[in-house]
Amino acid sequence: MPPHHLAPPEGGVLPQAALADEARAATRLLFPALAEGLIQRRPWAMARAERRQADHAAIDVVRELRARYGVGPLRLRAGPRSVALLLDPEDLARVLRETPGPFSPAPREKRRALEQFQPHGSLITRGPRREARRRVNELALDAPHPVHAVAPAVVTRVRREATALAQRAVESGLSWDGFARAWWRSVRAIVLGEAAAADEELTDRLARLRAAGWGHLPGPQGPGGWSLLAPRRRLSRAEFLLRLQAYAFQAPPDTLAGQLHGIEAEPGTDPVGQVPHWLFAFDAAGAATLRALALLSTYPQQAARARAELSGVDLTRPQRLDFLRGCVLEAVRLWPTTPLLLRESTEDTRWRGTVIPAGTLFAAYTPYFHRAEPAEPHGGAFEPGMWLDGSAERNPAFVPFSGGPAGCPGQNAVLLTASTWLAALLAHNTYVLDPPTPLRPRQPLPVTLNHFALRFSAQPG
Ligand code: HEM
Repeated sequence: MPPHHLAPPEGGVLPQAALADEARAATRLLFPALAEGLIQRRPWAMARAERRQADHAAIDVVRELRARYGVGPLRLRAGPRSVALLLDPEDLARVLRETPGPFSPAPREKRRALEQFQPHGSLITRGPRREARRRVNELALDAPHPVHAVAPAVVTRVRREATALAQRAVESGLSWDGFARAWWRSVRAIVLGEAAAADEELTDRLARLRAAGWGHLPGPQGPGGWSLLAPRRRLSRAEFLLRLQAYAFQAPPDTLAGQLHGIEAEPGTDPVGQVPHWLFAFDAAGAATLRALALLSTYPQQAARARAELSGVDLTRPQRLDFLRGCVLEAVRLWPTTPLLLRESTEDTRWRGTVIPAGTLFAAYTPYFHRAEPAEPHGGAFEPGMWLDGSAERNPAFVPFSGGPAGCPGQNAVLLTASTWLAALLAHNTYVLDPPTPLRPRQPLPVTLNHFALRFSAQPG
């Protein structure tokens, strides 16, 4: 079917996808990517996605759309929504920069999924309260600083878990399950303090609430049958939030939640209401950390550079480990944990001489930007060095932690935690990925990587 074009109000022309292309974009790209970013991925779903290299097909859809229709933004319909698919890195940069107005970071798709467990989170707040909530996040997470004010406690808590895990790994290997248990103990202690470290039920409950967001997303899977369960889920959410509040109110000053106590916030900000997002987002950080270890286990030269960075350094104290931080950034670039960046325009916006009406959903599929033509020549390569010399940051296509005024305020806290974890694991052992693994030296990296299936053998040294 030939593409047709919208009649632009003021002379320019923006492409409109033909029906068949709309259907492909919605089913292969938009709905699955939206669900992946917001909902806890199940191991079986990740295994299936890896077998089919699902992101490959989705990247191809974007590539074909760009070849057929040009730089976009490409107008299309997805279910009830009018979407503008971003195909150009400069357009992506503009949308992220011009947030929260005219591009709101809180379209209803995100609100519905995330309000299951973080009804007052800044990311899904519209209107004047957003700024106050964002500010609280920036202050408590010490957003601009690579080494957070509570870094000494982060190091102690991470090393306790990581050192014990590294010792066990020599006997019985290292798998996602073992890593995740230790990771979450460290995260609960970092965010809420020692009292919460062993409370697996807290984070398990959060995972169940995240899974419930599934029924609230558009697309083939929803919105289905959840309304009947709503009272039970509301109760579950109330229980989760109460338990979290109890920890957060008592959190010592050397925790992330404890940092909230010293912040003066205007009424209605709900500082503790930001904490569910932190816990939710540390899930992605765990996946990125184990993927970074997998990368280092596959590339001996990079592993040698990582060891050189650690040599002679006192790892019992906070350190800014730039190379390891670059490895984590690469893990997120290569396998983005928020594959769909979404904004909703709150007013008409002008694009290449034409106008896109208010209420349009602007969508950027980050695996395309991170791995396909906009990423050349780095696409499928592991290149942590480009995060050290500023070249990655200069490329508007690379947005592993988003960017602009709604970019991730937790980025530095994540990089500190993850690099400290990697340093503690690498200080004791060398790791080899157990077969079967899709990561092989001298071959392009797979576009879909199932972190649940990663298994390592470890040798001291
Ligand atoms: C690998 C781990 C992480 C990645 C890749 C990541 C990435 C992102 C991205 C892409 C966004 C923007 C989402 C959007 O525009 O829809 C975001 C927002 C946010 N992230 Fe992270 N994040 C991570 C971990 C964390 C952690 C651990 C925290 C807190 C401790 C955190 C705190 C936040 C907050 C509060 C927002 C909302 C910002 C706002 O409302 O302006 N993130 N993150």
